[in-house]
Amino acid sequence: MSIDKKYVDQILKVSEKAALASSYLVGKKDKIAADQAAVDAMRSELNRIDMNGEVVIGEGSLDEAPMLYTGEKLGNKKGPYFDIAVDPLEGTNFAANNLPGATSVIAIAEKGNLLNAPETYMNKIATGPIEKGLIDLDFPLEKNVTNLADFLNKDVSSLTACILDRQRHKKIIDELKQLNINIKLITDGDVLGALYVTNPKYNVDIFLGIGGGPEGVLTASALDSFGCHFQCRFIFDNDKDIKEANKMGITDLNKKYELNEIIKGDSIFCSTGITSSDMLSGVEINDNKYTTETLVTHKSLKFKETIKRTNLIEE
Ligand code: FBP
Repeated sequence: MSIDKKYVDQILKVSEKAALASSYLVGKKDKIAADQAAVDAMRSELNRIDMNGEVVIGEGSLDEAPMLYTGEKLGNKKGPYFDIAVDPLEGTNFAANNLPGATSVIAIAEKGNLLNAPETYMNKIATGPIEKGLIDLDFPLEKNVTNLADFLNKDVSSLTACILDRQRHKKIIDELKQLNINIKLITDGDVLGALYVTNPKYNVDIFLGIGGGPEGVLTASALDSFGCHFQCRFIFDNDKDIKEANKMGITDLNKKYELNEIIKGDSIFCSTGITSSDMLSGVEINDNKYTTETLVTHKSLKFKETIKRTNLIEE
């Protein structure tokens, strides 16, 4: 089954509204308020849609988040059943400090088709479309980059790897340096970081490293529409997360997930720029209008576009 095309426009609107709401708080040094504004806008817009939606990736469990919590039912209960993954403000530091790269992100899939991911870290690897079996989370780094360089017909030294600038990545970063690979370090925002592999114009050949699990599921839903390669593995380091994972039906804590185990069937993904980045312009407000740029994918229609739109700011 495919998701009706009309939902593309509606999900795009959800993403745009969340970005607009958050944009008023850009540079205000208050990441919680910037996040809350995006959450409120996203939730109220989602509730207008003809659907039986359920949040599978959200702001946390009900006791942590009263809105867009995992399990929350959304929509007007008059339509198809969807799984919904949201990150209303991805890159809270970026928004709070007016730095490039804050976005609002949402993905929907048919019910039961999006992995219900625990709120843990995840080890991820992503590249553009490649031959099956060439790149693997369990291969040594050198093997992955050599295979990738051969496949792309490039020198290893001309590859670029994107990775979050974190102490936990010191070993990988040192090894990348030794292999003479170009490194694109990002301070936050590993959804966009991984999405750079979708288009050679961003000059990122491989994304790797540990970031948020929920962000990984959102990333996977976009990469799926681009036919890209993605694998991941959750990292469990405390009993609470293990219990949560067990409740979600995850028993093999060391499982390596392939893209088609994270997202199945049709999906729609939208990510709207809040502050500008290499990929998306941030929100611009002029009088009573606002302009946004959104990366939109709809898998079954093979639709993958950046959409720039100007809308009226509603009271
Ligand atoms: P927030 O928007 O929740 O601040 O997340 C930003 C982010 O950089 C994600 O893109 C990434 O997955 C995660 O944080 C990495 O977590 P940590 O900052 O703990 O390394």
